[in-house]
This record gives sequence, structure tokens and C-alpha cells, in this order.
Amino acid sequence: MNVIKETNFEGLGKRTQGKVRDIYEQPAQLLLVTTDRHSSFDRIIAHIPHKGAVLNLISAFWFELTKDIVPNQLIEVPDSNVIVAKRAQPFLVEVVVRGYLTGVTDTSIWTNYQKGKRDFGGITLPDGMTKNMPLPRAIITPTTKAGHDENLDLSEVVPRGLATAEQWAEMQRAALALFARGQEHASSKGFILVDTKYEFGLHDGKVILIDEVHTPDNSRYWLKSSFEERIAKGEEPMAFDKEFLRIWFKENCDPYNDATLPEAPEEMVTELSRRYIEIYETLTGAKFSVDESMPPLERMQKNLEKYML
Ligand SMILES: Nc1ncnc2c1ncn2[C@@H]1O[C@H](COP(=O)(O)OP(=O)(O)O)[C@@H](O)[C@H]1O
Ligand SMILES: [Mg+2]
Repeated sequence: MNVIKETNFEGLGKRTQGKVRDIYEQPAQLLLVTTDRHSSFDRIIAHIPHKGAVLNLISAFWFELTKDIVPNQLIEVPDSNVIVAKRAQPFLVEVVVRGYLTGVTDTSIWTNYQKGKRDFGGITLPDGMTKNMPLPRAIITPTTKAGHDENLDLSEVVPRGLATAEQWAEMQRAALALFARGQEHASSKGFILVDTKYEFGLHDGKVILIDEVHTPDNSRYWLKSSFEERIAKGEEPMAFDKEFLRIWFKENCDPYNDATLPEAPEEMVTELSRRYIEIYETLTGAKFSVDESMPPLERMQKNLEKYML
């Protein structure tokens, strides 16, 4: 299987590498190349066939579906793995929106609820809630973007200099409206959009939506049909996101500390690839297909020719 681990195109501009994406900087725009790298625990734990294309195309779908809510970065999709984006000055705050009491990491709302915290993003939750219950309404729990994720209070964003009051108000408005649109569309396709993270940037003096939108990498998606039944039985919802590979690594090594990690079992990699494709097809109503008439790097090179500097 042809996985896209890394790209190194010449002549497309200065290249930087995020965990999942390779970014080429051009004077007026960015080429965001989504690879098949799969990150968890702040490191690459596997490569998932077709994952890059699925994430890229899901983002492109949502950018299109939400452009009436807030302007976004999308200029063009010249290849299944590439978005040409308006270059913005990113705000150093991640706008996390949550609809359910869930999660297992230190910053997650369920972890904090269990520790006794009750005030979140402008609402006070009652005692006695259980894991995976819906929240009374969607809430915003911002985190810092520089370095390690750290939870912030809604009221801290402006005093910390992360945005002006006006910009922060606009980001919150947009985030809640985007999330409502996301939940509504996902629900019509049989999925629950559980939570997500938005990044915004400043472009021509305006707040625009950047990065990726409602992908299974930055959002949780649960299957709607089995949700009630599984919760009633005390089981976890059927998840279409990164959680299930994360669990395997936690059970089979120490992913935070081991220098090298075991290879994920092939059948799990194949299953994750299948779930990513399934959620793409269900959300967008399109059949997933990539041009496999040539190796992916060659194909991208060809599709990106017109962006050569
Ligand atoms: N339109 C944009 N303008 C400027 N920066 C962007 C834009 N879209 C995304 N970015 C940045 O590009 C990077 C995307 O690569 P990614 O692999 O997701 O990195 P990370 O490991 O930081 O999550 C992120 O740092 C993101 O903030
Ligand atoms: Mg990212």
C-alpha cells in the first residue's frame, strides 16, 4: 500500500513540517499538504492509508458548507491531499467547542468534572452527571496554542493578549455557529459531532477560519444509532476517530516514554483507514476515490506544477 509519509517538493516555497501536514509558504498563500501520518501522544504512531486525502477532503467540504458563517482560508483544492490556503496570522488560542461530557486527557472536560470542577465556559454543571452525557448547551473551553495545551478561562484570552475583545467575541460567535452547523449536518447523516477545535487567524485585518475543520483528527464523531443503547449499558459510544488506536498503544507500550514504539497491527491500521473513508463518504455523500494511476508523490508533483515559484 502506498502511504504518504512525507513530501519534499522543490520550488514550492519554504517547507515546514507539522505533525500531520507539510506546509509550503508562498508569498500570498500556503500550500497545506496533508500526509498519512497519524499522531497521538504528541508523536507519530502510525501511517494510515488514504488518511491524508480523507482529512483534506473533509476539511474542504466543511469550509464550503460553512463559508456563510465566517470567511475561511480555502482558495483551491488542486489535489486530494492539498489545500491552497490564504495565509493568515494565527491567533495563539485553540477554540475548543464541546457538546458532551467526555475525554480522557488532562485537559478534557470529563477528567476535570471528575476532579470536582463544575464551572466550564460560562455554565455550571450539576453534580451526578455521568461520562458521555450531553451538556445542557455547547460550550467553549479555549486552550493555549503555544507549546503544551493548557486550559484557559474564557475571560483570560483578552488579558493575556491572545486577541482583542472584538476579535475574541467574533471567534466565539463563529465557533458556536460553526459547531451548531456541524452538529446539524452530522446528525442528518447519522453521526454525532461530539466536540471539535477551531483555529482562527487574521487575514487582511479580518478574523478568518484556518487550519482544518471537523475532521476525525480534530473532532470526535460518534455513531448516532447505537449511542443511547451503549450509554445505557455503560459502554463507550462507537467512535469514528483516533481513540481506538490510542487505546491499543496505551495497552501495548508506554507511548509517552518509550523511545521506539511497536508497529500497530495491520488489521487495526486497515480498520482505521476504512472508518476514515466511511465517515468521509457518509458526511459528504461522495464516493471516495483517488487517482492511483501513478504514485501519489508523482501525482501531487504534477497537480502542483502551476504553483512552482
Ligand atoms: N491559513 C493558515 N495560515 C497560517 N497558518 C496556518 C494556516 N492553516 C494552518 N496553519 C498552521 O499550519 C500548521 C498545520 O500543520 P499541522 O500538521 O496540523 O501542525 P501541528 O503539529 O501544529 O498541529 C498548524 O501549526 C496551523 O496552525
Ligand atoms: Mg494540527
